[in-house]
Amino acid sequence: MTTTYLITGASEGIGLEIARQAAAEGAAILMVARDEARLRAAATSIAGAIRPQIAAVDLADPVALDAFLADLDARGYRPDVVVNNAGQGASGAFVDADWARLDAMLRLNMNALARISHWAARGMKARGAGAIVNLSAAVATRPTPYFAAYAASKAFVTNLSIAMDSELRGFGVSVSAIHPPAVRTSFGTAGKADLKSTLVHKLFPTVGPATVARAVMSAVRRRRRSVIIGPVAGIVMGTAPILPRGFDLAFMTLLFKGKRPATA
Ligand SMILES: NC(=O)c1ccc[n+]([C@@H]2O[C@H](COP(=O)([O-])OP(=O)(O)OC[C@H]3O[C@@H](n4cnc5c(N)ncnc54)[C@H](OP(=O)(O)O)[C@@H]3O)[C@@H](O)[C@H]2O)c1
Repeated sequence: MTTTYLITGASEGIGLEIARQAAAEGAAILMVARDEARLRAAATSIAGAIRPQIAAVDLADPVALDAFLADLDARGYRPDVVVNNAGQGASGAFVDADWARLDAMLRLNMNALARISHWAARGMKARGAGAIVNLSAAVATRPTPYFAAYAASKAFVTNLSIAMDSELRGFGVSVSAIHPPAVRTSFGTAGKADLKSTLVHKLFPTVGPATVARAVMSAVRRRRRSVIIGPVAGIVMGTAPILPRGFDLAFMTLLFKGKRPATA
């Protein structure tokens, strides 16, 4: 039987790599992002026996998201695997950030992920099978000055995913949280998360999107609850509970402040 994947944020970066790897395994894919032209070009670039479907939706818009899910229900669409990958970052001092931008990021990273997970898990639980994979980040376990709202949104992703997994495992449904370090996509560029001037981007090794996609595919196969990718993410997540808070905050500030003025 053909496995069906719904992948959000699939027009570039990690999501596109997940779509490529799922297609190589013969999956039928529904790719979601906002920019329809880019999505169409991404779908066309994917080799595979089954042509990927696309849906252009702003997942941060709750009305558009509800309409999208209602349309999937009306068509009887039931994904075997859902990958909540679409996410945005916003760095810099929290109080200096534009609220509309932060709000859109939080709605995408948390509300849309929770809404889609809730929708998917209901169907999967009823069928007794399915996998949900949620893209978190290595900073999920740490308060991160100058990347504060993003890191906090990923703490939500990790905690929701692991708790959902615990509730649903007995019903044949797995929920995985994936924790990558910095990944070589356009995520950190100016106009997006804007991390290029930070020490975290300058000092630490990054991983490629294909590595993260392989971890996602493996999490689905092996029904992993939490996946930490590479030694940097391992150190960031492993040391979080044991470091004195003051030292930890000073260290994270050093890594994420970048060339940005501090607020008073
Ligand atoms: N790259 C990293 O360093 C890194 C590290 C740890 C975790 N992550 C996480 O991994 C995930 C993917 O990151 P990435 O590096 O692949 O990002 P990316 O290259 O910036 O790609 C983001 C994808 O999400 C889509 N998207 C953005 N806003 C959306 C919205 N409102 N509605 C629907 N789709 C939207 C984008 O397409 P449109 O713009 O056309 O909508 C694009 O397809 C994110 O959750 C991110 O937080 C990334």
